[in-house]
Amino acid sequence: MTLPDAHSQIGSAVAVLRAGGTVAFPTETVYGIGADVSNSSAVQRIFEIKKRPADHPLIVHFADASRLHHWACEVPEQASRLAERFWPGPLTLILPRSRHVPKNVTGGQDTVGLRVPDHPVALALLTALGTEGALAAPSANRFGHVSPTTAAHVYDELGASVDMILDGGPCKIGLESTIVGFNGQTAIVLRPGGIPLAALAEVLSGKVVLPEREDRTVRVPGALASHYAPATPLELCSSVFLWPRALELATNGLRVVIMEWSSKELNDLNRAENEGIVRFAMPAEPAAYGSLLYATLRRFDHERFDRLLVEEPPDDSAWMAIADRLRRASCVPSYKIQNQDPIPRSEQEHYHEAR
Ligand code: TXA
Ligand code: MG
Repeated sequence: MTLPDAHSQIGSAVAVLRAGGTVAFPTETVYGIGADVSNSSAVQRIFEIKKRPADHPLIVHFADASRLHHWACEVPEQASRLAERFWPGPLTLILPRSRHVPKNVTGGQDTVGLRVPDHPVALALLTALGTEGALAAPSANRFGHVSPTTAAHVYDELGASVDMILDGGPCKIGLESTIVGFNGQTAIVLRPGGIPLAALAEVLSGKVVLPEREDRTVRVPGALASHYAPATPLELCSSVFLWPRALELATNGLRVVIMEWSSKELNDLNRAENEGIVRFAMPAEPAAYGSLLYATLRRFDHERFDRLLVEEPPDDSAWMAIADRLRRASCVPSYKIQNQDPIPRSEQEHYHEAR
């Protein structure tokens, strides 16, 4: 597939959007599929293409951070500070929606997710829509699946159901934006993402709440148990348990791939160690790991492994978004060395039925 240069396609993309069509576009996090926020049938089409339930809200993307008050009717001081510091960038703010945001965009909720993406193609497209323009855009994948980080991923997944795909190359960050909601002046991280927690805490003078410690009053589908999931059943394993578990599965005739970050002895990327078992080295640095994660999961799906064993990431806040996505992508609870039992058959069956 060859796609024309994205910048020369902005005019056509705007025409598609104004005619009520959908356009997939690159951002610094993942590719989104966008519709004119004010066109309800175009927004409806996005839910259909993604097979996404209608009550799961979309993020509104716009170009000019100073227009925050146009899209939100109330902006806490903490939200203004975050927007000022991180936009354009991988931050989504959940705020009370203004009358410019139709309810079908927010899944019926009175709050809206707002984001100014940091990608030249996205910004060119959003700017070309004019100061009143914005795109309602979720990630350009089917509901529950892994987000796309290249135009080819979008094409593979959504094909002709999307009217146009702008190719801006691979996404730099590769994981979705950090989502922050507010309870009064308290900022709550609803989804860890492209902005490290430490950077948020710095702007908010340390006052950041993680969702585990807070009642959720807003809906975040990314928080569903099975989300961001590849087709290959994925198990999270602590380092010491990876190899015994792989051997156990291989003995039962399964083709297994192990995805490791800590291995020092793996010097080429993809090396067969044992019949039926492939080891794959990931970067030991979180930004590099995050940018490769989804593309790597897709690659394993293409190669049709029976099982993917992922080494648990370090217990460190810099890895929080990666750990979050891996937990949601896994088909079973993580297995640690103290739990040497094989996965109970009932759980395996449950997993296969659920797919
Ligand atoms: O990086 C990203 O955020 C990408 C790019 C394309 O911008 N977008 C993205 O969109 O990940 P999506 O729809 O795949 O995930 C957005 C998340 C969903 O979990 C949604 O529920 C949540 O944001 N969200 C959006 N509006 C919300 C609202 N009003 N209240 C609570 N959660 C909201
Ligand atoms: Mg998504």
